Amino acid sequence: MTSVGIVDTEHGGDERGNEHSTANLRPVPSSNRNGVLEMMAMRRDPFAYADRRMAQYGNISGLNALGLKLVVTGGPRAASEILMNKDRAFANGPAWSYFIGPFFNRGIMLLDFDEHRHHRHILQQAFTPKVLKGYMAEMQPIIAERVAAFPTGKVKLFSEFKELTLDVALEVFLGMELPKHEADKLNQAFIDTVRAGVAYVRKPMPGGRWWKGLRGRKVLEEFFYANIAAKRATQTPDLFSVLCHAESDEGDRFTDEDVVNHMIFVLMAAHDTSTITMTQMAYWMAKHPSWQDRARAQSLALDSELTYDDLGKLDALDLIMKESLRLCPPVPAQPRMAIKDTSVQGFFIPKGTIVSVSQMTNHRDPEFYTNPDIFDPERFGPDRAEDKGHRMAWMPFGGGVHKCIGLYFGQMEIKTILHQLLRGYEWSVPADYQIPMDYSSLPVPKDKLPVQLRRR
Ligand code: HEM
Repeated sequence: MTSVGIVDTEHGGDERGNEHSTANLRPVPSSNRNGVLEMMAMRRDPFAYADRRMAQYGNISGLNALGLKLVVTGGPRAASEILMNKDRAFANGPAWSYFIGPFFNRGIMLLDFDEHRHHRHILQQAFTPKVLKGYMAEMQPIIAERVAAFPTGKVKLFSEFKELTLDVALEVFLGMELPKHEADKLNQAFIDTVRAGVAYVRKPMPGGRWWKGLRGRKVLEEFFYANIAAKRATQTPDLFSVLCHAESDEGDRFTDEDVVNHMIFVLMAAHDTSTITMTQMAYWMAKHPSWQDRARAQSLALDSELTYDDLGKLDALDLIMKESLRLCPPVPAQPRMAIKDTSVQGFFIPKGTIVSVSQMTNHRDPEFYTNPDIFDPERFGPDRAEDKGHRMAWMPFGGGVHKCIGLYFGQMEIKTILHQLLRGYEWSVPADYQIPMDYSSLPVPKDKLPVQLRRR
């Protein structure tokens, strides 16, 4: 075992002479194992991997991963220290850029401090309740029409959801009727940029993921720049138009370049996260038909067309969604880079270290959750409220200044789609079926969740 960072406790500073007092800080315990093997073990079974590290090193430990000095943290207290970032010691940009920088250049999640605050104030205007109601009105008819046309029999629900959320994104985010070949081209460009972030070969080798990602980014940029003048000319209820006209309370507005960068990032941030969540919810409702029945009864008690206020009445879906997000957070971990020497939970974190906050680990912390591996939505009910034990005990949407800006949009879309599915269909999986997950990037089912889908 080695440690990450050299601690000079005598002088209360580090070898670079920085000010941060390191007296009494402990070095982070770290494994000597080859970082690539570590990453592979983590991807294969992140739960077993986290348990093993926790047992061996405790909830803060280091590894050398693909040339990165990485410190993995577990537990809501460490998460709170890092994400609330009181000393402004941790930055998003340099950490996230490593993974997605070239494809999501200057997306809001990659901005920091004053610049981030400036952009977030303007972006917030695209997610107020009034604007959300406009998006909801736009998405209702497409969702109702598309869910009604779902195939029956053995159906891969993940694929159906993915296609549907892409179509919703084109309508609600772009607000444009595109010829099929152009919509397909955009979808492909978008898929390529998302996949590029987890490429093993991080160079533009022709035909490779990285190369396709860069090409995809170019297609998206060209599309948005070509349409921005028209969007600035009139106001429509789609995100593209809203960003063109958004103005913060201080009167700040986005430049064309900002609009393009934010559109590309938000499309990415909104898509897989919502698809993964509804897939997990559908899986658990297939495994636990009593929850499916309970959620269906509430949907049948409402009209087919939901109003924004109806969303709050679907409380069975709420509980199922919370529990699904707990067991499988679509963003399983968040990286930050220490931009100065600092500490987490009494451990020394040298400048340049990437620390990772793991919601996947925190969501199974037995200090807060009874039988954490069991699907039990009632744990979120008012009597138990297990998620309230610590503000970072349940954190699928992150925390601190970068907390997900689209959390209400995401929940609105997910509930609207599942509301239609519950009203129109019943679905099941064999009793012994366990969803096989691929954790190599965002967690997706390897088999795309095949269910038996029957019209009611
Ligand atoms: C269930 C669905 C979703 C989940 C689990 C989720 C999760 C997250 C998480 C964990 C972060 C924080 C990342 C960090 O701090 O490093 C985040 C940020 C963000 N999310 Fe979401 N998200 C979801 C849906 C959406 C949707 C639908 C949108 C847009 C419509 C969206 C837009 C964003 C944006 C723009 C950020 C960056 C905010 C900032 O840096 O200020 N997300 N999301």
